[in-house]
Amino acid sequence: MKLSKGFEDRLEEKGVSRRDFMKFCGLVSATMGLGPSFAPRIAEALASPQRPPVVWLSFAECTGCIESLLRTSYPWIDELLLDVISLEYSETIMAAAGHQSEEALQAAVKKYPGKFICVVDGAIPTAENGIYGTIGGHTMLEIAKDICPKALANICIGTCSSYGGVAAAAPNPTGARDLESALGDALKTPVVKVPGCPPNPINFVGTVVNYLLFGKLPDLDDKKRPLFAYGRTIHDTCPRRGHYESGEFVTEFGSKEAEMGYCLFQVGCKGPDTYNNCAIVKWNDGTSWPVEGGHPCIGCSEPDFWDKMSPFYKSL
Ligand code: SF4
Ligand code: F3S
Repeated sequence: MKLSKGFEDRLEEKGVSRRDFMKFCGLVSATMGLGPSFAPRIAEALASPQRPPVVWLSFAECTGCIESLLRTSYPWIDELLLDVISLEYSETIMAAAGHQSEEALQAAVKKYPGKFICVVDGAIPTAENGIYGTIGGHTMLEIAKDICPKALANICIGTCSSYGGVAAAAPNPTGARDLESALGDALKTPVVKVPGCPPNPINFVGTVVNYLLFGKLPDLDDKKRPLFAYGRTIHDTCPRRGHYESGEFVTEFGSKEAEMGYCLFQVGCKGPDTYNNCAIVKWNDGTSWPVEGGHPCIGCSEPDFWDKMSPFYKSL
């Protein structure tokens, strides 16, 4: 597989070896359920000079989603992504501020009508016409209504833009809602949701790669999440999963309970009701994930998890 010289040079400038890059492509391929033979195609897609324009809108959020993406243990992913996509507007990381940034947003939308991908993080306050969340004198609701319907597609990153998240948790005085329900029929463009609090960056990368590889958004479940990442529950693939046999705990996937510890169901694990791939792809370069670290899953990728999954330490 041949990468263009320019791309190889850029990797080298960032201190990324070809081997590390291919390892990452293998991880993306495995996450997407495509198998190792797709890794070279993913590498080519990521190295392609074709750059889909992206506008990143941040609404009522904690910045955790973009931090999760930029502070990944593949420290060069942020730069790679910014190479692969053309980030026309992101209030959080762009150098411009004030009027300049507002102009950049309007210019991007005008330049790529119906052709840009809109990434949205954060919920949208809707009470009293959205006055609880404003940017540059416009409510977040106005901005979303203006920009999102003009996109080719909208990727909701994180549980807040996907389902309301913590901003919409009871009693929700600001009337915060997820993008789709805040805009209702006004949002005519497709929506993909990559929930999690924060979401695993690899699932966002997989969604973008799917578009680069196949020219379309990934197949979705009934809650509009990519099936490659959210097709199975945490419990389905949990290495702590097992049962008692003659008084002894036997795990199903061969892990030793002495290493992994027992199932956390009794201390509130919401793994059986939570669709996500944490047990497979893990976090921090495959180092660990909440249940492996000894904490029950709190269901962070499910709609209304702050209300429906709490008390977090009470069993289902
Ligand atoms: Fe299922 Fe949670 Fe127990 Fe794992 S720890 S087996 S996800 S209930
Ligand atoms: Fe969230 Fe549960 Fe994974 S809390 S990070 S979906 S293990």
